[in-house]
Amino acid sequence: MTRISILLTTTTLLATTTIAQSNREPPSTGLHSLFLSAGKLYFGTATETNNFADPTYQNILSNPLEFGQLTPENSQKWGLIQPQPGDFSFNASDQVASLANSYNHLLRCHTLTWHSQLPPFVSSTSWTPDTLRQLITTHITSVISHFGSACYAWDVVNEALNENGTFRNSVFFEVLGEEYIAHSFEVAREVAPPETKLYYNDFNLETAPEKQTAAVELVKSLQSKGVKIDGVGLQAHFTVGQTPSVESLIATLQRFADLGVDVAWTELDVAQEDVETASELAVEQQASDYVVAVRACLEVERCVGVTVWQFTDRYSWVPGTFPGKGDACLWTENYQKKPAYWAVKGFLEGWVARMNVTRAFVGGNETTVRTVASPRGPLTEVTSGSERLEGSLVKVAFISFGVWLVLNMM
Ligand code: XIL
Repeated sequence: MTRISILLTTTTLLATTTIAQSNREPPSTGLHSLFLSAGKLYFGTATETNNFADPTYQNILSNPLEFGQLTPENSQKWGLIQPQPGDFSFNASDQVASLANSYNHLLRCHTLTWHSQLPPFVSSTSWTPDTLRQLITTHITSVISHFGSACYAWDVVNEALNENGTFRNSVFFEVLGEEYIAHSFEVAREVAPPETKLYYNDFNLETAPEKQTAAVELVKSLQSKGVKIDGVGLQAHFTVGQTPSVESLIATLQRFADLGVDVAWTELDVAQEDVETASELAVEQQASDYVVAVRACLEVERCVGVTVWQFTDRYSWVPGTFPGKGDACLWTENYQKKPAYWAVKGFLEGWVARMNVTRAFVGGNETTVRTVASPRGPLTEVTSGSERLEGSLVKVAFISFGVWLVLNMM
């Protein structure tokens, strides 16, 4: 081999390496690891202690590539955590918290002031405004202090609104009016570690326009009173074929984000309307509905993550609560990944790959610029990847020519 051909080979090799970086096979990935690569905080799931003895379930739940966040599905609710006045029972929710900790998953804590799953002593006592306010104070103070910094976020108030935008009639609203919401947030802020994110959480904010507007007004009203709220959780319990369009979901998330709060899909599932008659088409539709939801989160900067409300049909709440409906999760009841799982994963891989191309060209010690060529235009300003690639190829050619000259002069 002549010196010149060695040189050319080296040049080609160097150039190919630069290009090959962008084509490199991604390492083994899952929903959470891809979410992290996309710049989000987590992809998570609801879980509960009655699922813990199932080894196949545990295997998936603990996989740090798939999940990076857990929400206790029931055990932190009032009826379970304080079933009798002053009698706190933290056993089950502690198990969820310690599992999250042992897997290194974030814990979203759920929930404090909610009209549902209340113990009888709360729903059927004749409270005065003062005694009920005190009860809320004691409950929130005790529960938040117990978990301390284990909770990344708390759903402080859950489902306070009706679909027509009025306040839901609950024991809290009847006795205290809407003041109970601000009170709950104030107590939570007082006792929670400063880094804990405090959320308002509700369903159908994506589909009921008056409810959505009322939630926006609620956030604004808290903010105008100086009550700090960090996030709005949108439950995202969808039905196959009735999931809003990606444009609509983006607009919904952005509307809340524009108030200066974080947003998240906190309980995502996409149920088949009728499990018995669900066609192959409906299975594909479910896949595209899941992708639409995930994509909307990626497109909105303040969307921190997505939590599915159980990842397997085996433990989904849907059939028990909405007879006939079901098949709402990403895994079947026998732990097969559904087309919806593969569609979400494939979509995320594509999204992240577009970001990585830009990164690979940047290289060296230069600043890494992250961008995604989303259909709405790049999410972040970025120096053109091809300019950078051309730049590095010119550099390689220049150096090679220099070496070639020196060798020939010797
Ligand atoms: C559901 C649980 O999944 C069920 O196991 C339980 O029987 C009822 O509650 N909105 C919420 C969740 O905020 O807490 C609910 O979870 C689903 C609707």
